[in-house]
Amino acid sequence: METILVVEDKESMAQMLKETLELEGYEIIIARDGAEGIRIIRENKADIVLTDLKLPRKDGIEVLKASKDENPMIPVIVMTAFGSIETAVNAIKTGAYDFITKPLDTDYLLLLIKRALSNRRLVTENLLLKDALSHHLGIPDIVGKSPLMIKVAEDIRKVSQAKTTVLLLGESGTGKELFARAVHDLSPRKEYPFVPINCAAIPRGLLESELFGYEKGAFTGAGEKKLGKFELANRGTLFLDEIGEMDMVLQTKVLRALQEGEIDRVGGTNPVRVDIRIIAASNRDLEAAVADNTFRQDLFYRLSVFPIIIPPLRDRKDDIPVLAEYFISRYAAEMNKSLKDITGDAMDILKNYSWKGNVRELENVIERTMILCEGNTITQKDLRLTLPAASSETILDISMDGTLDEVAKEALRIAESRRIKKALEDTHGNKTRAAEILKVSYKTLLTKIKEYKLEK
Ligand SMILES: Nc1ncnc2c1ncn2[C@@H]1O[C@H](COP(=O)(O)OP(=O)(O)OP(=O)(O)O)[C@@H](O)[C@H]1O
Ligand SMILES: [Mg+2]
Repeated sequence: METILVVEDKESMAQMLKETLELEGYEIIIARDGAEGIRIIRENKADIVLTDLKLPRKDGIEVLKASKDENPMIPVIVMTAFGSIETAVNAIKTGAYDFITKPLDTDYLLLLIKRALSNRRLVTENLLLKDALSHHLGIPDIVGKSPLMIKVAEDIRKVSQAKTTVLLLGESGTGKELFARAVHDLSPRKEYPFVPINCAAIPRGLLESELFGYEKGAFTGAGEKKLGKFELANRGTLFLDEIGEMDMVLQTKVLRALQEGEIDRVGGTNPVRVDIRIIAASNRDLEAAVADNTFRQDLFYRLSVFPIIIPPLRDRKDDIPVLAEYFISRYAAEMNKSLKDITGDAMDILKNYSWKGNVRELENVIERTMILCEGNTITQKDLRLTLPAASSETILDISMDGTLDEVAKEALRIAESRRIKKALEDTHGNKTRAAEILKVSYKTLLTKIKEYKLEK
């Protein structure tokens, strides 16, 4: 219930207001002069102030000033005698929410009070929203406060200014694409296109012509000349996502484009010059891929001029509360819902949950919760998350929120990790022998042992 402070010296008027407003469900405190009004305001008891202008012992303007001083969020409505509009305007200038003339029109008064209170809620929410968004590390749409994230943001900001090739490494859902866009948006190339291409999503046979385009008649079905992503991104940024999935032949062509600044359209005879900044990303360990001979070492070196490793969420738990609050405010705005609080218990669950899908998974959970949660506070129950028993992880435990690609990778991770565990048990920890059984190189096995944290 909201409390209205009525500062009014005339007894009958004060009583009338008290009765009317109490009927509407407000709690009323009456002050009989300005000084008493100010004292009550300072005790922080009122949600809204309704004050007469002419008052004994400090007038309404002084009450208004004291209230603004104490808490600028509290709306003050001034009551003024009919005809003294000038004083009313003066009150507005001093910060009054609105004024109403006497004799009072109670319907209008109630409307004003309602509007002032809802306005106050809005202002508060905006402040909270601003607060949530202020963790954006100086880069729009990116939030975080962990030292690891602050470092990444710094690197992003610095490297954006040069034409340097950037290699973003991180698990699925850690924000690689978001950061790639940030590099572009902060760069002098921002007026030119940012062209993303996901090398894992395009069938191998089509990737070359997607990247480099083709000439008319280059192959059956090539009816018209088509520009590839390299040319479309000219003067801008080309984002080669999941570059680890690109086959070796194409890798050679990309390397040439990087080194020479030239590409060949499929079926073309003359090379085409392009001015491109490349950002590449991978959630595969490219060094291991180089060791495995599935990724060209020279391309790897060329790409990793400026590698940025985006740590998984489990290594930067400090970011979880700010990310959660950020997503709550974003989805509240998107769904046209009011902002929601989150209980400490619920936040603890978020902090300790094993986020296999990283920030994307956290974002999905918050989105779902914002749909499900009907009250003003998100509780543990609303999250519908259970902390899984990590030890006996099976493929059936995979979170079914991700993309097919993510689910497949997760299944692979669980299967591989269990298989390697068993091979190590079978060989009593003999890694050379285990690698032979698993038919992988020793180096690959080591990488996977590290990746799956199988080291005792
Ligand atoms: N620090 C962050 N602040 C705000 N939002 C973030 C942050 N990191 C990631 N996100 C959000 O998480 C989601 C996943 O990010 P993104 O798609 O960039 O990840 P990714 O690393 O490219 O994932 P994948 O490897 O699966 O392609 C996006 O909606 C992105 O906006
Ligand atoms: Mg991505």
